[in-house]
Amino acid sequence: MSGTNDVLTRVTLRVNRFAPRPEREGRSRGASPFARKASPFGSSAEPRARRPRGRQWVQEYVLDVRPQDTVLDCLLTIKRTVDPTLAFRYSCGHGMCGSDAVAINGTPTLLCTAAVADWAKPAVPVDADGFRRTGDADATAADDDAAAASAAAGAATASADLGVIELSPLPGFPVLRDLIADIDPMLDQIRKLKPYLQADGVLATTSEGKVDVFEYLQHPEELARYETLTNCIACGVCEGSCPVFAGGDAFIGPAALIAASRFVNDSRDTATDARLDAIDTPDGVSACQSVRACTLQCPRGIDVGEEMWQIVAKVKER
Ligand code: SF4
Ligand code: FES
Repeated sequence: MSGTNDVLTRVTLRVNRFAPRPEREGRSRGASPFARKASPFGSSAEPRARRPRGRQWVQEYVLDVRPQDTVLDCLLTIKRTVDPTLAFRYSCGHGMCGSDAVAINGTPTLLCTAAVADWAKPAVPVDADGFRRTGDADATAADDDAAAASAAAGAATASADLGVIELSPLPGFPVLRDLIADIDPMLDQIRKLKPYLQADGVLATTSEGKVDVFEYLQHPEELARYETLTNCIACGVCEGSCPVFAGGDAFIGPAALIAASRFVNDSRDTATDARLDAIDTPDGVSACQSVRACTLQCPRGIDVGEEMWQIVAKVKER
């Protein structure tokens, strides 16, 4: 993680850990009819439990890292050299696959694009009784000043302490283990909305009259209407940020609506009415409260809140 010439700083990763209790024989996960989220967009065959049971605890890991290292770098170091039992998910390592979405300091984002220096915050002091002194304004301000001075000095010293980064699984999804959330409910919802082109192609033939290819013709300005939406990597960050979705109320969620919007805006697609029908439901666009928290952390730069607004308008204008 660091070369010999790198200045190292100290950071504490405070990880919310979870070890599921083994299933009792004969009981399938999520079989309870009282499972909180029973959206018709979820898996109808087996509704999913919101809160698997198991042991929860908070574990701290102290590392010496470079400020520009990512939180994913830190977790990989822990996994390889400190604690192989720590569970988290990642794949590409550079913001392309969307598999490593978690909550960092309570904010949904990707592990692999989060630099330690951007997310470490001064440790909240704990008093002798084990309580955090969050209400003591003077003490907190003084601690902030001390931490800022410490961070500034970090450029020149190897023992600077950047503070603490708190990690927990992506909100709004059942937790499988440690930082791994079960995003299948989101993928089920996206799948239900048929995220593929339904179009009448133009048959192109070779000079011999044989079928060559189906062409789906489009002008550049038509492509521009949905091109940004194709960048969605289904990471679930917008869903974890949405207070309606992550709050547990039945809502198809912004990621599924982005997937629908991508094809509604595609001039080649011939299923627009059916697509709008599918989201014109109480837990479809009607559940969106236009909070727009979904926009804030999208790693692909999609203005999710604005897209929600646009698709709601399309449904209502019919
Ligand atoms: S819209 Fe953005 S935040 Fe939401 S799933 Fe797609 S890439 Fe992730
Ligand atoms: S590991 Fe692929 S997006 Fe972070």
